Amino acid sequence: MQKELEQVKIKAEQMIAAARDVSELEKIELEFFGRKEGTLNKILKGLKDLSPAEKKVVGPLANEIKSHLQQLLDERKSVLEDEALDAEIEKEKIDLTLPGKKKALGSLNPSSLVQYELEDIFRSLGFMVLDGPELESDYYNFEALNIPEFHPARDMQDTFYIKTKKGESKQVLRTHTSPVQVRAMQKYGAPLRAIVPGRVFRYEALDVSHDNNFYQLEGVMIEENISITNLIAVMKTLLKGIFKKDVKVRLRPGFFPFVEPGFELDINCLICGGRGCSVCKQSGWVELLPCGMIHPNVLKAGNIDPEKYSGFAFGLGLTRMVMMRYGIDDIRLLNSGDLRFLKQF
Ligand code: PHE
Repeated sequence: MQKELEQVKIKAEQMIAAARDVSELEKIELEFFGRKEGTLNKILKGLKDLSPAEKKVVGPLANEIKSHLQQLLDERKSVLEDEALDAEIEKEKIDLTLPGKKKALGSLNPSSLVQYELEDIFRSLGFMVLDGPELESDYYNFEALNIPEFHPARDMQDTFYIKTKKGESKQVLRTHTSPVQVRAMQKYGAPLRAIVPGRVFRYEALDVSHDNNFYQLEGVMIEENISITNLIAVMKTLLKGIFKKDVKVRLRPGFFPFVEPGFELDINCLICGGRGCSVCKQSGWVELLPCGMIHPNVLKAGNIDPEKYSGFAFGLGLTRMVMMRYGIDDIRLLNSGDLRFLKQF
């Protein structure tokens, strides 16, 4: 019996040392100390059959082994509990010295950058910044601008017409920001100073300098006694604000049904300083700003008396301006969403 007890002791010691977690320990505890089925108790049941002399030896030995094993169990239990807690803490640990996760911040498209700069310049001159619908009625896009239905001037702008049912008014994707001229006149009357930055659409074959949607910035100024001199002064202020230096300009006659007289305003090529290069096609001048004095028919469509008021209008090619400003040689990059391109601004 003594031998049996010693064997149990060794076996229990090994198992306790090998236990990997608390639940394993609890099983071991039950196996050896369980009241009914525990190995130790089973052995000790035989105690009553021993001689008194043997009892004297085995009894204390059994107690000693029992308390020894109980102590081992308790020690191992607290070690395992500590380990489990450490593992838990390790899992939840936050290393405050680690570098944070960078949130990628977007940036403004170069078109927006130039648009906002222009808005600031014009606000300082007392202009409102207006908006208009991109899906526009045929009336505002053409008719109100002195371009009747079968007028050949319609061919100047390749238009996306929208299918409409019979009897419904015709709709187009606006080909220019000029329709907002008349909308603004009707809404605010004269005197009027307003610019309209916005997206326009043309049915174009795409290449480095043509896209089917791009940006313009329209402007109107209507007051008593407005003349071409005012037009030139405002245009020069605008160009100086954008290019940060005085820019030489020239006016050429240009035809647009909604202005009379109409002009193409060219600027001295900023790439070559006017000597001639590939950008200005060796002419020294770059076409940038169609403009003119607002046609009396257009003022009338806007409910403004052409006898009393006069004004000028211009349609800056915002997208072209952006390309000149940053030296962008392919218009398609602007709408591409290509981060390699956009990250440069
Ligand atoms: N709307 C014209 C175009 O897109 C430009 C323009 C605007 C011309 C205002 C004169 C005055 O071609």
